[in-house]
Amino acid sequence: MISKLMIMLLATGLLVVAASEAAANSAPAPEGKQPGGISIELGKSDFRTYCAACHGVSGIGDGTVGEFMNITPADLTRLSWKNAGLFPRQRLIDVIDGRAEVRVHGLRDMPVWGDWFNAEAVSPDMTPEAREEVVRMRIDSLVNYIETLQVK
Ligand code: HEC
Repeated sequence: MISKLMIMLLATGLLVVAASEAAANSAPAPEGKQPGGISIELGKSDFRTYCAACHGVSGIGDGTVGEFMNITPADLTRLSWKNAGLFPRQRLIDVIDGRAEVRVHGLRDMPVWGDWFNAEAVSPDMTPEAREEVVRMRIDSLVNYIETLQVK
């Protein structure tokens, strides 16, 4: 029941994003518009839904839930800065997914988003492979969005 609802929410979100992208495509691209806009929009809405409570809407780690945790949620705007100016894309994909990390190190303070997005994608007509594609797409979108938050 819950997963069906979540799929509907996800599908609606994707449609809205696709529709606004289609509208954007019919007009000349605004100045500075990046390729991968759909992905960034999805990542932005997922970020606000799932991540901002701890990491803050701006990503600096000042979300309200984070205030009640023993560990400070990471500042997600300085990931490139802390990595000699290089955006650590693959590391972020792995950290956000979390399933490999948890297998090796056990539970962690941040939810395991790979499991979460996979569970959301459960439905009778989704093969395990198709579900993994959804997981991959949502994590990629989040990482693309987080890339836009990086301070120079
Ligand atoms: C319940 C609070 C909470 C939520 C919700 C949350 N995080 Fe986190 N996150 C943390 C904490 C705490 C850390 C610090 C590492 C740890 O101990 O797990 C962290 C670390 C991270 C890191 C690692 C940063 C680094 O430099 O290694 C990334 C990336 C990240 N979170 C992304 C996300 C994304 C994307 C979402 C939403 C899908 C999210 N987080 C949702 C609490 C949260």
